[in-house]
Amino acid sequence: MTEGDVGLSAEMHRAADLIEAQSCEILARYETELRAAHHVIASDPVALSQALVHAGQIIADVLTSLRAGQVQVDRSHGTLARTIGASRAASGVHPHESIMAASFFYGAVLSTVSRLLAVFADPLGLFARIAMTLEQSISMRVREAMGSYTVFLLERMQDAQLDERRRIARDLHDRIGHGISVAYRNLELFELYRDSDPEKSIARAATAEKAIRETMQNLRAVTSDLHSKETLKNLEKALLHYLETADCDGVDVRLQSNGDERWARPEVLDEAFLMIREASHNSLRHAGASVLLINVTITPHELRASVEDDGCGFDPRQPPESGGVGLSSMRERSGLLKGLMLVNSRIGLGTQVEFLIPLETGAPA
Ligand SMILES: Nc1ncnc2c1ncn2[C@@H]1O[C@H](COP(=O)(O)OP(=O)(O)O)[C@@H](O)[C@H]1O
Ligand SMILES: [Mg+2]
Repeated sequence: MTEGDVGLSAEMHRAADLIEAQSCEILARYETELRAAHHVIASDPVALSQALVHAGQIIADVLTSLRAGQVQVDRSHGTLARTIGASRAASGVHPHESIMAASFFYGAVLSTVSRLLAVFADPLGLFARIAMTLEQSISMRVREAMGSYTVFLLERMQDAQLDERRRIARDLHDRIGHGISVAYRNLELFELYRDSDPEKSIARAATAEKAIRETMQNLRAVTSDLHSKETLKNLEKALLHYLETADCDGVDVRLQSNGDERWARPEVLDEAFLMIREASHNSLRHAGASVLLINVTITPHELRASVEDDGCGFDPRQPPESGGVGLSSMRERSGLLKGLMLVNSRIGLGTQVEFLIPLETGAPA
């Protein structure tokens, strides 16, 4: 090692010591700049403390590099950069805000450093080393943060796609599949009564035709997501209409409705209808029940519905052998309404499905 090298190394150590002593001032200046610009990071205490820890790590890289005599960036700090990238994506902070914050930090470091280096024999050499370290340390963090920012957004997109696929599956099952099965069952009954009871038979054919027409309309609405705009007017009437078209032969069906439907928004009534109809449909189709009780009670703060049968019961913990999505669809709809669905069923002892849906509206208008 030459005398010159020893001198340069000593200068770099001295510069590192001076910068270290000023690191709090650099961070304070950085924070002041962010606040003065009303930067979005400054208005969020968690984001601000993350940014300051991050800035402290970059200063640490500068000190290590000066003391080691070569640029050294601590790659383990990438973890914090990735956390920051994901949390900024989650809170909707655009990357250009991060770049603006980085340039405030550059400014804070360089203005302090240029003042400190004035007393050194080779300020330019030191400045170059510091600038190179800053560049490498910051770009490593930008790369890491951008990576996790993008991954976060992609995951969000995938989640949104998955939610949309689930919505389509629910709607196909509850709005389309249901209509087709009503039409099919009524055509079977049309055949069955054709010779013995022509009047009943014609009525069943008319019901089948109506169900097909409604299903075609529903199909258009589901594919264009219009059904949310064409919401249900009256839950009790819709349920009565469903029971008229369903095959309830041999089952004592009772529908009881209490309270004022105006306490619930039409979209909530629409969803409640689909859930109650599916639970009733399951009782009629799977339970072999002799009694089906449907009870709907609406209070200003809650819609409570119960569908109860005295049929064969089933084990709700087992995934359905039929591969059906009726139960999961009811559960998802309750969840989307921030409500609860409770299934109480025991083999041989019947089934009770209950929905508890909170309502936000006040008294009826
Ligand atoms: N009330 C009920 N009584 C007896 N079994 C039921 C009842 N409700 C649901 N099940 C059982 O749960 C299964 C899953 O129901 P569901 O998810 O609605 O699908 P699917 O009706 O298309 O079969 C049914 O196939 C049936 O075995
Ligand atoms: Mg079902």
